[in-house]
Amino acid sequence: MSAPVGEVQIEIRDLTMAYGSFVLVRGVNAQVRRGEVFFIMGGSGCGKSTLLKHLIGLKPPAAGDILYDGQSFWQAPSEHREAVRRRFGVMFQHGALWSSLTLAENIALPMESFTDLGAAAVRELVQVKLALVGLRGFEEYYPAEISGGMRKRAALARALALDPEILFFDEPSAGLDPMSSRRLDDLILELRDSLGATVVVVSHELASILAIADNAIFLDAASRSVRAQGNPRELLETSADPAVRGFLTRGGAEASGAGRGRREAGALNFRGPPVSSGGSS
Ligand SMILES: Nc1ncnc2c1ncn2[C@@H]1O[C@H](COP(=O)(O)OP(=O)(O)O)[C@@H](O)[C@H]1O
Ligand SMILES: [Mg+2]
Repeated sequence: MSAPVGEVQIEIRDLTMAYGSFVLVRGVNAQVRRGEVFFIMGGSGCGKSTLLKHLIGLKPPAAGDILYDGQSFWQAPSEHREAVRRRFGVMFQHGALWSSLTLAENIALPMESFTDLGAAAVRELVQVKLALVGLRGFEEYYPAEISGGMRKRAALARALALDPEILFFDEPSAGLDPMSSRRLDDLILELRDSLGATVVVVSHELASILAIADNAIFLDAASRSVRAQGNPRELLETSADPAVRGFLTRGGAEASGAGRGRREAGALNFRGPPVSSGGSS
């Protein structure tokens, strides 16, 4: 996997994340480059989803700012923020599809809400988006009629509806078996490559982190800080910080990561579980 080197697209500057007087993390500084797969990683409750809310405009930070293409996001008037948000595609953790709508109707919804496209054009674009995520021909299916992995991919197709420049994911592989999770990771990389999108992923899934991240920040609840940043595979090799090492080497205990560690095992000195016998992957 080659790390793309684009210009800085997102800059997080001296951010403080808090709920009232309860400070989660102080002094968040990070840069995301165009075309990069950037992970916000850390244990449960460290503030990953909160940072995502700051990034996509759902919650103003307690202090600091975020810049998109060098322009302030949170100091700017809300119309500016809305315009920037139009360039985002977001897949939430529990980003359920509308169960009463077909896949086609789910994906058409953002197009109908935010564009002037006619019905025929929308229909055609819906087919393109579904094909992009490997769901060609599933237009008329309802979410309940397809598997969990397919539902995630359909939600991804919906996130792609408005041709986003930046894709945000909150725990995309939550609830998926390792095979479906890996397919989703591969799809995320494919879309980054084919669409040239920047990808920001919130995740605590070690297998995904080690498999597809170009760059990452590690949020730590205990020290309320960004404890490390960089390529997670390089951090695994070079970081001496016990908190960072602890997070990046706990793969053996993680059922969800089991079986996928093998992919990294040789080249990356990944301390995963022993290779299981007779696995389906
Ligand atoms: N709306 C809220 N009000 C108060 N505290 C919250 C709220 N949302 C989250 N928190 C707290 O903030 C911390 C971080 O939450 P979150 O960003 O969801 O963590 P993560 O996504 O890393 O698991 C948690 O301790 C959580 O309980
Ligand atoms: Mg979360």
